[in-house]
Amino acid sequence: MRISFCCANVEAAPWLQGLRAALPQATVEEWQPGAPQADHAVVWAPPQRFLDEQPRLKGIFAIGAGVDALLKLAVPAGALVVRIDDGGMAVQMAEYVCHAAIRHFRELDAYDADVRQGLWSFRRPHERSDFPVGVMGLGVLGQRVARALAHFEFPVLGWSRTPRDVPGIRCYAGREQFGDFLERSRILVCLLPLTPETEGIMNADHLSRLLPGGYVINVARGAHLVDEDLIALLDSGRLAGATLDVFRTEPLPPQHPFWRHPRITVTPHTSARTLRDESIAQIAGKILALGRGEPIAGVVDLERGY
Ligand code: NAP
Ligand code: GLV
Repeated sequence: MRISFCCANVEAAPWLQGLRAALPQATVEEWQPGAPQADHAVVWAPPQRFLDEQPRLKGIFAIGAGVDALLKLAVPAGALVVRIDDGGMAVQMAEYVCHAAIRHFRELDAYDADVRQGLWSFRRPHERSDFPVGVMGLGVLGQRVARALAHFEFPVLGWSRTPRDVPGIRCYAGREQFGDFLERSRILVCLLPLTPETEGIMNADHLSRLLPGGYVINVARGAHLVDEDLIALLDSGRLAGATLDVFRTEPLPPQHPFWRHPRITVTPHTSARTLRDESIAQIAGKILALGRGEPIAGVVDLERGY
């Protein structure tokens, strides 16, 4: 069995070493143009040429959860596209989103500013019931985030494409229930995959339906958000703030207004990082399972786009 590794901006050596240790029977190599055809590929942002040269791939294993960039390419017919299914990302996402929501709810940025001026001042505590959190996307990451928020006793709502039943979470599904979901949410978390249906979903129309004092946390993809709509709603006071981890162009260009907006917190696409050892173990386990003819988790539905 031959496995080809083709990941942009990723140090290949430790991945190759880990995959070889996990799959000693396989030949694992970093792809070079013209390399022999492989049975499986481990990829992140591969060039189209890589896929064109690999028509016999059985499995294409992305080393992240989102496959939007990969699905823009022409994928060899018959190959399964497989994404990382949690792999240690869910707990990171829960930490990040809870931190952002709590920082906003507890006004910790305002306390920080006061303290920097030597002020020992108090703010009236908010009612948790006034800060319902709506999580768009109730998949592997969204469900974990929703449960973590509920643990802190925020009212939590969730929205998905098909109906889901998550204990402790008020679940909504489909376009027909989207308005109700938005109108009952104050903090909005995006954990949707980027597909033609979800691109630009955080636009002026939808964001202005949040409860007054709305707050946006985008940890999915930059193209879910219409940047200028967010800025306009923040500047008009319709929204209170945003924490953004993902951007239409990454790295975020130096002149982009998000960098300096007083109500926006920016992080560099770091809310849930791929953990190498966990991911290697998951991918190797799935390659072996496929070899035994067993079903595996995380297979992408190419029609649905996630
Ligand atoms: P997932 O398990 O595939 O879950 C996706 C969820 O979104 C599902 O609940 C799905 O509904 C819902 N959904 C999809 N299309 C929808 C639509 N049109 N309307 C309503 N709901 C829709 O994905 P995941 O593993 O949780 O990951 C989610 C995304 O997080 C990834 O695609 C990636 O873009 C992003 N991500 C970001 C980072 C980061 O560091 N910032 C890290 C990892 C992942 P159903 O339940 O009905 O299928
Ligand atoms: C990161 O953004 C991922 O999709 O894993």
